[in-house]
Amino acid sequence: MQGLIADIDLVEEEKAEACDYKVSADEKFGAKKLYIESYGCQMNFSDSEIVTSILKEEGFGTTSQVEQADVILINTCSIREKAEQTVRNRLNYFRGVKKRNGEVTIGVLGCMAERLKSKLLEEEKIVDLVLGPDAYRDLPKLVKQAEEGEKGINTFLSREETYADIAPVRLNSNGVTAFISIMRGCDNMCSFCVVPFTRGRERSRDPQSIVKEASDLFNQGFREVTLLGQNVDSYKWSASENNKARLEKSNEDEIVSFANLLEMVAKVHPDLRVRFSTSHPKDITDEVLHTMKKYDNICKNIHLPAQSGNSRVLKLMNRTYDREWYMGRVDAIRNILGENCGITSDMIAGFCSETEEEHQDTLSLMDYVKYDFSYMFFYSERPGTLAAKKYEDDIPLEVKKRRLQEIMEKQREYSIKRNQRDVGKTFKVLVEGKSKRSDEQMQGRNSANKVVVFDGDYPKGSYLNVEVFDCSAGTLFGKVVA
Ligand code: SAH
Ligand code: SF4
Ligand code: F3S
Repeated sequence: MQGLIADIDLVEEEKAEACDYKVSADEKFGAKKLYIESYGCQMNFSDSEIVTSILKEEGFGTTSQVEQADVILINTCSIREKAEQTVRNRLNYFRGVKKRNGEVTIGVLGCMAERLKSKLLEEEKIVDLVLGPDAYRDLPKLVKQAEEGEKGINTFLSREETYADIAPVRLNSNGVTAFISIMRGCDNMCSFCVVPFTRGRERSRDPQSIVKEASDLFNQGFREVTLLGQNVDSYKWSASENNKARLEKSNEDEIVSFANLLEMVAKVHPDLRVRFSTSHPKDITDEVLHTMKKYDNICKNIHLPAQSGNSRVLKLMNRTYDREWYMGRVDAIRNILGENCGITSDMIAGFCSETEEEHQDTLSLMDYVKYDFSYMFFYSERPGTLAAKKYEDDIPLEVKKRRLQEIMEKQREYSIKRNQRDVGKTFKVLVEGKSKRSDEQMQGRNSANKVVVFDGDYPKGSYLNVEVFDCSAGTLFGKVVA
């Protein structure tokens, strides 16, 4: 569906498809009922599956009916002001639920919990629990306390926690595709970004537990995994630096890089597709690109957020690469993986002091790369970030919005052009289920992560060859061929 973000500022036509929040739809396991909603990036959605697993151990089942819940959890995002406003609106809605059902416990999890800490308890009286992203093991204890009338908070950030031993309960799953968190936190300090403050220091999860999770998913019928991290290219596991005992079969000083990990997961089974997100332009190596080339089941699609096409702005953003470096990485992708490899981006319009000429550089970078898809936002100042401390948020809102509009129009042009290139081609498509728009049609994705819609009725999780005969900016339309 998306790169790393399922958020509210998406390009127009993706809005319909993006899932702003997710409710656990199935009703199973124990007597007490958990209702959980998630906002923000895929990592947050993945965390909700860990949280559900932790509470399942305590006898909780899930419900999609908020009025029936004993515990309501909202897993929150702080990336832009609008994301936090959405959460506040949901809390207002839950206020009504609590009025009708006084017994219910309401908890705020995730990045907003981490950012606001005890302030959340002060500001939102209906909230009983506040838990940051590294504190979920404490949930059963705090839920019990809350049931006895005591509010609870844990926003401790860990240097080690990866929840490696917890088998996530897959929520709203199509049974075909799943996320696997391979690392947590972020050590980059992009000046606009709140993530290093809400998610803490970067740490990698041990490769054995990742491979096991992928292999278990394959055995359960899943056919695609997406490896998740804020900067997957800096994944690094070293037996000597990390806990040696957990890397049983490996050499003591062996270092597992992201390229090594990709290869290990690709080898689980040739019919298990592997995707990953997000790649940082400063860290993506040729070794990763060659590993992608070597394995057919590693999907040919790279989410490589540029943020801006201007070197001065990139420097202010503290992205630690410039326009030329970024173009060089795109050239390497094209040289090693060819023109058909999907490349997608995130772009920020109207960062502090950005001039019209600098904005034009973002548009011309888009002409250079010809992205298949982008997530596009206007700059939203976040309290506590480097940019908030050092730079003035001086671009008027109308100007930010106009520049964003220009970026979106440019992206739409290239989304259509890139899809038109695919008309007449045949792709191997992994069937994900019924098409969103019609029960008569099915949909799946090709290696480049494009949604392909076709007639017929085929089992979920099967691979089909589909010849594309038409397209829109967001979808390829095809027919199944032998
Ligand atoms: N780790 C990823 C991005 C995670 S945040 C990376 O480095 O690319 C997802 C996207 O949100 C970012 O890529 C950026 O485009 C956008 N974003 C982050 N902070 C923002 C802010 N303060 N205002 C507007 N957009 C922002
Ligand atoms: Fe934020 Fe930069 Fe880390 Fe991405 S790499 S999460 S943009 S600080
Ligand atoms: Fe993700 Fe939003 Fe947190 S993008 S890491 S949920 S601030």
